[in-house]
Amino acid sequence: MREKTVFITGGAKRIGASMANYFHTKNYKVIIHYNQSKKEAENLSQELNAKEVDSCHTIQADFSSKESIDYAISSFYKVSDKIDVLINNASSFYPTPLQDATEDEWRKLLDTNTTTPLFLIKGFQKGLKESEGCVVNISDSLATRGIKNFSLYSGAKGALETLTKSLAKELAPEIRINAVAPGIILWPENEEIDDEEKTNILKKVDLGRVGDPADISSAVYFLTEANYITGQTIRVDGGRS
Ligand SMILES: NC(=O)c1ccc[n+]([C@@H]2O[C@H](COP(=O)([O-])OP(=O)(O)OC[C@H]3O[C@@H](n4cnc5c(N)ncnc54)[C@H](OP(=O)(O)O)[C@@H]3O)[C@@H](O)[C@H]2O)c1
Repeated sequence: MREKTVFITGGAKRIGASMANYFHTKNYKVIIHYNQSKKEAENLSQELNAKEVDSCHTIQADFSSKESIDYAISSFYKVSDKIDVLINNASSFYPTPLQDATEDEWRKLLDTNTTTPLFLIKGFQKGLKESEGCVVNISDSLATRGIKNFSLYSGAKGALETLTKSLAKELAPEIRINAVAPGIILWPENEEIDDEEKTNILKKVDLGRVGDPADISSAVYFLTEANYITGQTIRVDGGRS
């Protein structure tokens, strides 16, 4: 029997899947949200359920409306009667140079990076209070310093970090809310970055290398166990920021 349950948004692949595996090894029941990565989510769920029956479930939702967030929450409670940890990991990320930026893109980037985490926290507030649970929001180590040509994305992640602090005050003492802000862990899937550019980017990282998804998973897990930490953002970025 797994006593604790974690809900991971965008958990089908990449950093989200690493966290799903990590929390599963820590004896959590894992509920994986996905949007388009159905196959990856189902494969991961099968793998985890092969280790222990009923230890993983998947939920599909496109977080582009308040209805989809409410749907994800009601779907969650169909497969789990309690929530201990909410990890707001799902995100969209692409450049939006100001001259081409549109209201639609601003809305999309806010939807995934800020609005969804906010309303998931609101929707799960009662459940998290009952379990004295916690939330970990996944930000970006450079968001609050500003990222050239990514103003909309960094604005949305910056708002997420501010929400982390404000909601930590508002929901204390029952619910702790923290954030992990990754540096370069996995190169973006939808953007070609050549080797020379990668080398130049890595020159700005004190530790001189990309991180590993496990570095993020272990930092997130640490925060779930750290009972006297709330309202903090930990930058896991090899010194980049
Ligand atoms: N990768 C890095 O090095 C890095 C660096 C800095 C910060 N981060 C942050 O760390 C987290 C994980 O990074 P990552 O690179 O693994 O993330 P990612 O692959 O860019 O995105 C994670 C998941 O978000 C989901 N998603 C996107 N749009 C969605 C929508 N409209 N509705 C619902 N789900 C949606 C996707 O699910 P589906 O695939 O199922 O559609 C995707 O798999 C993100 O919050 C990211 O901003 C990552």
